[in-house]
Amino acid sequence: MVTGHVFIATSLDGFIARSDGGLDWLLSRDDPGEDHGYDAFLKGMDGIVMGRGSFEAVRALGVPWPYPKPVVVLSRSLAPEALPPDLRGHVEVTPEPPRPLCERLARQGWRRVYVDGGAVIRSFLAEGLIADMVLTRIPVLIGQGLPLFGSLPADLPLRHDTTHAYPSGLVQSRYLLDPPA
Ligand SMILES: NC(=O)c1ccc[n+]([C@@H]2O[C@H](COP(=O)([O-])OP(=O)(O)OC[C@H]3O[C@@H](n4cnc5c(N)ncnc54)[C@H](OP(=O)(O)O)[C@@H]3O)[C@@H](O)[C@H]2O)c1
Repeated sequence: MVTGHVFIATSLDGFIARSDGGLDWLLSRDDPGEDHGYDAFLKGMDGIVMGRGSFEAVRALGVPWPYPKPVVVLSRSLAPEALPPDLRGHVEVTPEPPRPLCERLARQGWRRVYVDGGAVIRSFLAEGLIADMVLTRIPVLIGQGLPLFGSLPADLPLRHDTTHAYPSGLVQSRYLLDPPA
């Protein structure tokens, strides 16, 4: 079975973006020459599953497509034919729910998937499909925004693995989750 892996940054009060999607509070903390382990994390993944919200946010940045691995966009509203030609072959759009999607990806040979986007991460957590999370906390309170976490069918105990405090003030922790019994 595929395991889901999270690598995401939040404000200290737990938001992944402002309510309008703004990432200024995060991008302004960019530290040239320090990728906080992102490249090594991505190298260990077979591909990326992200929500439509994250896909549209990356597109809106207007930068070249930044992902060197296959990307699956979860959406019940985006038509696959609407994908711009430059992304065909790199990006797949699917309305599949998380578990059947993971089963299909496993049949295709995927083992480890980078799961991105707040709503999609919450769906994968609720289904017991996340094996670990690397959370990088940015030392800023933004008061409101798009949350990373939300309601769950039951408590999810986490095991702390590592924490690293960067000189810039970013604090990164890795947590492990047990597969559901
Ligand atoms: N701080 C960071 O490191 C970081 C990282 C990633 C993203 N972001 C930011 O987070 C924002 C996007 O996050 P988000 O939470 O709004 O959205 P998201 O999780 O990226 O996407 C949610 C959308 O995915 C679709 N979807 C399909 N199946 C789903 C399922 N099983 N569970 C949940 N969603 C499903 C739905 O769209 P349909 O209506 O099309 O079905 C839903 O509205 C952007 O502003 C992005 O810039 C920040």
